[in-house]
Amino acid sequence: MNGVDRSAPAKAAPLRVAALASGRGSNLAALLAAHERGDLPVDFVLVASDRADAAALGIASAAGVPTLALNPRNYPRRRAFDLDLFERVAASGAQLLVLAGFMRVIDARALQPWLGRAINIHPSLLPKYPGLHTHRRALEAGDREHGASVHYVTAELDGGPVIAQVRMPIEPGDDEQTLAQRLLPLEHQLLVGTVAAIAAGRLALRDGGILHDGQGLTAPLQWRDGALQAG
Ligand code: GRF
Repeated sequence: MNGVDRSAPAKAAPLRVAALASGRGSNLAALLAAHERGDLPVDFVLVASDRADAAALGIASAAGVPTLALNPRNYPRRRAFDLDLFERVAASGAQLLVLAGFMRVIDARALQPWLGRAINIHPSLLPKYPGLHTHRRALEAGDREHGASVHYVTAELDGGPVIAQVRMPIEPGDDEQTLAQRLLPLEHQLLVGTVAAIAAGRLALRDGGILHDGQGLTAPLQWRDGALQAG
């Protein structure tokens, strides 16, 4: 023996994560901050954007994560852009792709290799309110509760299997802005908690359904008291 204990189990390499973001990047910042604190044992390998001026790119660079901006206008059609973007994400070695405020519908063919390996954060209790203006729509519907969802990405906008949600009450006097302000920090916790669970190998997409700790989920997990809990 040369002093190395060969009986010790090999430590699994951290999950390689890429993110796509189009805008301010607060969800990305939450992921990077959790990583910095030691609460999210993953490797961030790439942050890419469809907008060169996205604040998310500056946040990634400041954290030492490689960045990429591709302009959709330089491609003849949406599919060509999506295929190029997703090929570059694959080339980064990413095993998980996090859509953190990526404001584009993704072509089904580009997405195909990523089914079960790409997640998105959406500010509503899906299946309610896919698409835009979720806070306004929750208020207009007279909902008493609002929230955010993390789901596996499919070609259907905000339509993939929902992994986990966070809920909060709508208070009298709430408007779009107050809802957005109260929900955002909860979104951040939900996203960090869900990525951590994926990195720990606790979640998987199988035959269109979600496995959590090897058991089929019948309802989304709920983020409560700082942890993901069965609904
Ligand atoms: C968040 O509300 C997220 O749920 C939605 O887009 C917004 C992105 O915000 N998909 P940020 O860029 O992460 O601050």
